[in-house]
Amino acid sequence: MKAVVIENNQVDFKDTDDPINKENQMLVSVISAGLNGADILQKRGGYPAMPPWPQHIPGLEVAGTVVAIGSAVENFVLGDLVMSLVGGGAQAELAVVEPEYALKIPKELDPTKAGGFCEIFFTAYDALINRADLKIGDDVLIVGAQGGVGTAAIQIANIYNCNITAMVRDLKFETELINLHADRVVTGLKEEKFDVILDLVTGPDLSSRISNLKTEGRYVVIGVGAGFKVDINLLKIMEKRARLTGATLRSRSKFEKQLLANQIQDRLLKFVKNGHIDVAVHKLYDFNQVQQAYADFENGGKLGKIILAN
Ligand SMILES: NC(=O)c1ccc[n+]([C@@H]2O[C@H](COP(=O)([O-])OP(=O)(O)OC[C@H]3O[C@@H](n4cnc5c(N)ncnc54)[C@H](OP(=O)(O)O)[C@@H]3O)[C@@H](O)[C@H]2O)c1
Repeated sequence: MKAVVIENNQVDFKDTDDPINKENQMLVSVISAGLNGADILQKRGGYPAMPPWPQHIPGLEVAGTVVAIGSAVENFVLGDLVMSLVGGGAQAELAVVEPEYALKIPKELDPTKAGGFCEIFFTAYDALINRADLKIGDDVLIVGAQGGVGTAAIQIANIYNCNITAMVRDLKFETELINLHADRVVTGLKEEKFDVILDLVTGPDLSSRISNLKTEGRYVVIGVGAGFKVDINLLKIMEKRARLTGATLRSRSKFEKQLLANQIQDRLLKFVKNGHIDVAVHKLYDFNQVQQAYADFENGGKLGKIILAN
């Protein structure tokens, strides 16, 4: 098969060995695979895939057609269209998928977009619902709102009828973010207060943003692109009886990912089916345009996902 291969901190779409699924795994013919910040880190030599996932082929999420099924796999048949998180190896013509946390793609979701669904919606759902205990009508701030996870989080918070403030670096995509159901788009904060802050950027401003939490507010750190070592006045956390928490997805066990996939299946996919949830796509690239796709991601200034499609 051909796959995106990392060599000498560069990516190339080239021939490599076919992956082989074990008896408890499936093999999919890849339709699409989303790009994520983790792929950029992996290309630069950091954030390696955890063995036995492929070390040289990036990609944490995939959509494809099942073309081989291990003898111990239940609930899927050849030809099923599935989307899934994977530990690596998604950016290829063939990829191994674990059935425990694979989802059948609803017919309402374009399979070309579905390769960009899992990483952002699993992350945003877990952060808002499991970490932040999002409540109907909460005032929610999303920092770094125009990226993949941010656009997913806006849509989930909208289902909960929240009052959503989307914080961005500039207002280039203000209209698009309002169309996704953000109530306002801002580049800075004043005295406004929030029940939930989802921080996809972090850095030194985390400290002042804690002042923007309401009493009993919840602050969730999910991305640390602007820095992960910050000074915090813990008195503010105490006074507000606030909760400061965070999460990562890739390092979770199969069982933990399965629990999350079950939540997405039971509670979120119905909103895909009724049109309230979709993947915001910045741009689709052919796999053989992989260098342009990675450069586009690294340059920033996008709305939603960049997705590679075969
Ligand atoms: N913890 C987890 O499990 C998990 C899972 C998925 C993602 N992540 C991380 O969460 C973050 C968001 O993921 P994503 O998929 O949404 O990434 P993304 O699509 O690259 O979006 C990141 C967003 O953050 C903005 N941003 C970056 N640095 C900023 C800064 N200093 N000030 C203001 N805005 C800034 C970017 O704006 P510009 O476009 O203007 O640069 C972009 O809109 C990434 O750091 C990613 O690695 C974590």
